[in-house]
Amino acid sequence: MNQKNTPLYDALIKHKNKKSISFHVPGHKNGMVFLKDSHSLFQSILDVDVTELSGLDDLHSPSEAIQEAEALLANYFQVKKSFFLVNGSTVGNLAMILATVTEGEEVLVQRNCHKSIMNGLSLVGAKPVFIAPEFDTDWQVAGGITIKSIQEAVKKHPRVKALIVTYPNYYGMVTNLKEIISYCHEHKIIVLVDEAHGAHFSRRKGLPMSATALGADVVVQSAHKTLPAMTMGSYLHYNSEMVDLDRIKIYLRMLQSSSPSYPIMASLDLARKYIATYEEKDLQYTLHFIFEFREKLNKIPSIKLLSYKDEGDPLKITIQSKTAITGFELQSKLEEYGIYTELADEFNVLFIFPLLKCGDFYPIEEVVYALKDGIEEEERISISSQGLTEGTCISTLEMTYKEQQQKAVEIVPLSEAKGRVCAESIIPYPPGIPLLLPGELIRNDNIKQIHHLLEAGSRFQGGENIKLQKIKVFDN
Ligand SMILES: Cc1ncc(COP(=O)(O)O)c(C=O)c1O
Repeated sequence: MNQKNTPLYDALIKHKNKKSISFHVPGHKNGMVFLKDSHSLFQSILDVDVTELSGLDDLHSPSEAIQEAEALLANYFQVKKSFFLVNGSTVGNLAMILATVTEGEEVLVQRNCHKSIMNGLSLVGAKPVFIAPEFDTDWQVAGGITIKSIQEAVKKHPRVKALIVTYPNYYGMVTNLKEIISYCHEHKIIVLVDEAHGAHFSRRKGLPMSATALGADVVVQSAHKTLPAMTMGSYLHYNSEMVDLDRIKIYLRMLQSSSPSYPIMASLDLARKYIATYEEKDLQYTLHFIFEFREKLNKIPSIKLLSYKDEGDPLKITIQSKTAITGFELQSKLEEYGIYTELADEFNVLFIFPLLKCGDFYPIEEVVYALKDGIEEEERISISSQGLTEGTCISTLEMTYKEQQQKAVEIVPLSEAKGRVCAESIIPYPPGIPLLLPGELIRNDNIKQIHHLLEAGSRFQGGENIKLQKIKVFDN
């Protein structure tokens, strides 16, 4: 197939050039009816923000331009079928779980997975078997799950239907997914991969292998995160002997809008062309640019530049301050210089670099200047691991999702929570691994850990109750 083609984008431009008169949705009528003050900013997008008109196909039943564009995507990733998603990896994760697992079935799940995975499991009424990820003490972040912990979980739960993994993690760390997939397939376990942060992964040297190339059954990617696609634009790839393709289609139709955005879909077509025609010389150029950026960062005395132990995503660049300031404060300092980064945690600040083409420019000097100028060489501290928690490696729920939906919730003091079933997620940062999840039994050691973390100044995601030494539990 000719990867230079962009069938959906071309169809959209052809329609735009007709300068047609709109008596159809959306209400802005190709931009003719819009608030005047904002018009000029939006006009070029409003021109192509149309609906399922003749020649523009239908995402939910594609037979023309969208079918061709999705076929090109599947061809590039060498999978049986690929889908465009207009509601992010969030909808892809929900659909892949609903299509694969039924109520009461056991599923191995990486404990620190994205909330869309947890929501999918809850919607289906699955029985999750959580596997805690490894914790990286240099980076102070959760990595991936190991083959050893998966083998241990399978021994304890031999009837598991599927494994759900996040690959790579937010910081670009990858696990040995090949070994994990071949072990799971030997045991007839379906492998579902949330590759939200790895849409640019491929089969070529210089970037980690994509889960699609490693044999995963279903893979979901946020094209908008690392490819030049519009926000919310994502892909779902199907390449399985064990998952029913029709069920994936049914759930995507059920969960996605019946009025999908054409600008987003066209950007997915263009992003596929971008990566499929991305040449070896472009990748070498980008990697060299990143190498130079890292060299410059390495020379700044107040900064520690982190490196992967083995392989990782070169587009992700993580730094820590060697001074007394936290990752959050370092991020704010950079914002004073107009530099906005992807995320910060207690220790780290994460930059995501783009896939440049030969000759493209990217303003790295501004970052180097801001870091040199903005951070005083003040008091140096060594990174402490005081927030680290010791999670149970393999765990299950005390109360099923269905039971949870039927129970009332109350807030009790932590001191009275032992033996109750938790009704909220307690996620301390660091390490970002849930300490308790809804439906889990609260043990004495959980309470002790929470007290310890509070004393150590750890932050909790959504933990308003926890700060007050209280916790949400289900009624007995
Ligand atoms: C690991 C992971 N999976 C899924 C998602 C959801 O992706 P999206 O924003 O494309 O819906 C995210 C979002 O940050 C994520 O980090």
